[in-house]
Amino acid sequence: MVDVNDGHEADFLAIAREFSTVLARKEYGRADIVRDEASPMRFYAVRHWASAAAAELCHGDIEVQVLTARLFKIARVTHVVNGVQRHNPMRLLTDSNRMSQEPDRRTGFDRRRENLGRAEGDRRKAGPDRRLGPRRLRDRPGEIDLVAAARRAREHADAAFSHFKVGAALETADGTVVAGCNIENATYGLTMCAERVAMFKALSEGHRAFTRIAIVADTDAPTPPCGACRQILWEFGGNLHVVLANLTDEKGMHELKDLLPLPFDARLL
Ligand code: THU
Repeated sequence: MVDVNDGHEADFLAIAREFSTVLARKEYGRADIVRDEASPMRFYAVRHWASAAAAELCHGDIEVQVLTARLFKIARVTHVVNGVQRHNPMRLLTDSNRMSQEPDRRTGFDRRRENLGRAEGDRRKAGPDRRLGPRRLRDRPGEIDLVAAARRAREHADAAFSHFKVGAALETADGTVVAGCNIENATYGLTMCAERVAMFKALSEGHRAFTRIAIVADTDAPTPPCGACRQILWEFGGNLHVVLANLTDEKGMHELKDLLPLPFDARLL
């Protein structure tokens, strides 16, 4: 599902045409674009893969990745179904990141089925919410509650010197949420901000395309990312949407290009 930013429809259609051409030329499959009749800037990009192997080759193809990176600059992409993701039970046993990485479970089973859950139902004792995976917003069910993820991450902050705890949650283009918190050090300069922890975690897990970051601190005024983090976020995340919040409220939404005007980056080297 592709929500194209206003004014970029023509760019999107051009990228979609190029993508179709690559798919056909390399025999990965074909792609259809369907416009959502109810919301004109929403499109469904349907891929028909030649095979599961072709889909994997396509995802690893640098030409495709360049097109995808261009797409992410002008649209919000939400993966609704990934028909080639293989079930791997070993991953559950070996993946120590399950708690910190929150895979998108939109395609999971239907939790409204009657005979699932505990016999005592909603009488379960109050306590920390132990469900895995990102929550969705009640009023915008298509959207991951990124601020909630940042609030949870903040609980892990190690801020023994400043006592200023920060949480960050970074949303990748495929809907994965990677969280981070600030980690301080007795030699103060080695302190790492929550935003960079989240970004470096995500990069080290192979993510390369990002859509939003939420940053949470326990302050009345919003806590914006520091200069160093703006640079890192820009280099690896491009023009991210930056959501600032405290423990109870959202305090504003910015585009990174406005927080880091006239940036230095690899294009200038
Ligand atoms: N900090 C962050 O983690 N992110 C920000 O956006 C601002 C500052 C951390 C760094 C340090 O551990 C503490 O907050 C006080 O500066």
